[in-house]
Amino acid sequence: MAGRIPQDFIDDLVQRVDIVEIVGSRVQLKKAGREYKACCPFHDEKSPSFTVSPDKGFYHCFGCGAHGTAVGFLMEYERLEFVDAIEDLAHHLGLKVPRDEQAKESTPLAPLYELLGKAAAFYTQALREDSKAISYLKSRGLDGETALSFGLGYAPAGWDNLLRQFPDNDATRRQLLSAGMVIQRDNGGYYDRFRERIMFPIRDSRGRVIAFGGRVLGSGEPKYLNSPETPTFHKGRELYGLYETREAHRKLECILVVEGYVDVVSLACKGIRNVVATLGTATTPDHLRRLFRATHEVIFCFDGDRAGRDAAWRALQTGLGEIRDGRQLRFLFLPDGEDPDSLVQQEGSEMFLKRLSASMPLSDYLMSHMKEQTDTSNMDGRARLAELVKPLLNKLPQGVYREMLTERLAEEVGLKRNLLEPVLAEPADTRPALRRSATTSRSSGLRGTLVKQAIALLLHYPSQASKANHPAGLPQATQRGVSLILELLEIARQHPNITTAILLERFRDRPEKPHLEQLLGEEMLVTEQLAAQVLADNLTRIVSDAKRIRLEELVEKMTGGSLSADEKAEFLQLQKIEPNLGNPA
Ligand code: GTP
Ligand code: MN
Repeated sequence: MAGRIPQDFIDDLVQRVDIVEIVGSRVQLKKAGREYKACCPFHDEKSPSFTVSPDKGFYHCFGCGAHGTAVGFLMEYERLEFVDAIEDLAHHLGLKVPRDEQAKESTPLAPLYELLGKAAAFYTQALREDSKAISYLKSRGLDGETALSFGLGYAPAGWDNLLRQFPDNDATRRQLLSAGMVIQRDNGGYYDRFRERIMFPIRDSRGRVIAFGGRVLGSGEPKYLNSPETPTFHKGRELYGLYETREAHRKLECILVVEGYVDVVSLACKGIRNVVATLGTATTPDHLRRLFRATHEVIFCFDGDRAGRDAAWRALQTGLGEIRDGRQLRFLFLPDGEDPDSLVQQEGSEMFLKRLSASMPLSDYLMSHMKEQTDTSNMDGRARLAELVKPLLNKLPQGVYREMLTERLAEEVGLKRNLLEPVLAEPADTRPALRRSATTSRSSGLRGTLVKQAIALLLHYPSQASKANHPAGLPQATQRGVSLILELLEIARQHPNITTAILLERFRDRPEKPHLEQLLGEEMLVTEQLAAQVLADNLTRIVSDAKRIRLEELVEKMTGGSLSADEKAEFLQLQKIEPNLGNPA
């Protein structure tokens, strides 16, 4: 396993690569002013709303909200993982991807992969030799060919079968421990984690074994044992069966998400090979992003019981943030007491596929779930429905899909679109009225837009905007987003040739990334020439806002009790700066 790719190399690559060339070799682009336009490759459309900005190194679709850098484009369009997209771009420029050897030493993954692969081979061999395990799999309706393609194995009974496969030295023991394959005894010895279990190897996107799930034969507790989180295995990211699904299909119409290992393998036996399972966790945004890199339609399949319905609703909420036009989420609810495995064994694959095609689109599920909680026969109930759906709608990125759901909601509540819109736009402020009148009207709304605009300026014009002076007191300002401003300024200042694309790539694995991309998708009304000046002005106002907020806090505290000596001094100091604001009268 190679070391990390140095950040400098990625910066350099993103700056050197011509996004117009990368996109243009796959999508027919037309020049329009300083930008290029095309019909969006990520959703169906007749008139072009997909634009590529060579200056920013960024693409954006006004129709479906798809956006990103050249790296992001390759990942979406060619369905590549990040490292592979970087390799591709480097190859395109005739560069070799350097690896950070130091980082390699600090995360020695290569031996772990090797060791896990060796363990998997041992388990498959042990399965061949154990008639009890083979007959268990047969009794579950699993055939040998499918078992082989999923690399199923068997961990025999006994405490050291796996241990004995490896050299008897301390370094190897520690590696087995860090791979999660053995457990350390109090006296320092080790024993096999997995014993007398059917073994399901979990593979990463390149097919390397990174962890295992183990099921008892028949009944016993716990039914499943999974590898712990290890340097190679992060439950919230991996999906059982994704590698096998992608191996089985060049082009995937949809992927089905189920709950169990056995469900994945059992459906595969019946010829349904586009199925993955989360590993005992709820579906995460990370999961969904990986899935949508491989397909356009994801179908969640849940048990019909209470737990299944709760899980479905959670999946919907996670899913909302990942919806773009052209991406579909559907929900299949199974009869109570059944799971995909039991159903396909009873009914066969044809019937199961029929159920799949009758699964619920996200919008139907969302509306029906919400309508269960309100009585929509009267106006009050319908207004309540709008209130309930509002926060969910607001999770959706701008785009056709959001429009469509808004339209749908208008229909359901029986309001014209233009009457509904103000209801939806109203901020859901639950703070007491007094506080609201004290701060929101004056500064909070403004505060939000100031910080947001500052971030947008830095993103759109990083090299210009970062020339802005930043006022003393900015690092102490407590508004949300200020730390992000400081971070962006810092990156821009360290990097003489900073571009939007470089900046964005720095945030690839950060939770802020979707917000940054959304800001970039919004229209920027300030010109590049004015960027530094407007930003400087914004920052000054952010700092004075922060002071005002603090002052208001102190005033409130004074009204409810008294201030400490330090607070009094702070109050007097602040009042000098904001003389109009400090009067409690
Ligand atoms: P079968 O009973 O063999 O059909 O397996 P199943 O996949 O139907 O099991 P179930 O629906 O009970 O569980 C679904 C998934 O939840 C499993 O595949 C595991 O990932 C996880 N799971 C179930 N039981 C346990 C357990 O006891 N411990 C852990 N860690 N995970 C479990
Ligand atoms: Mn089952």
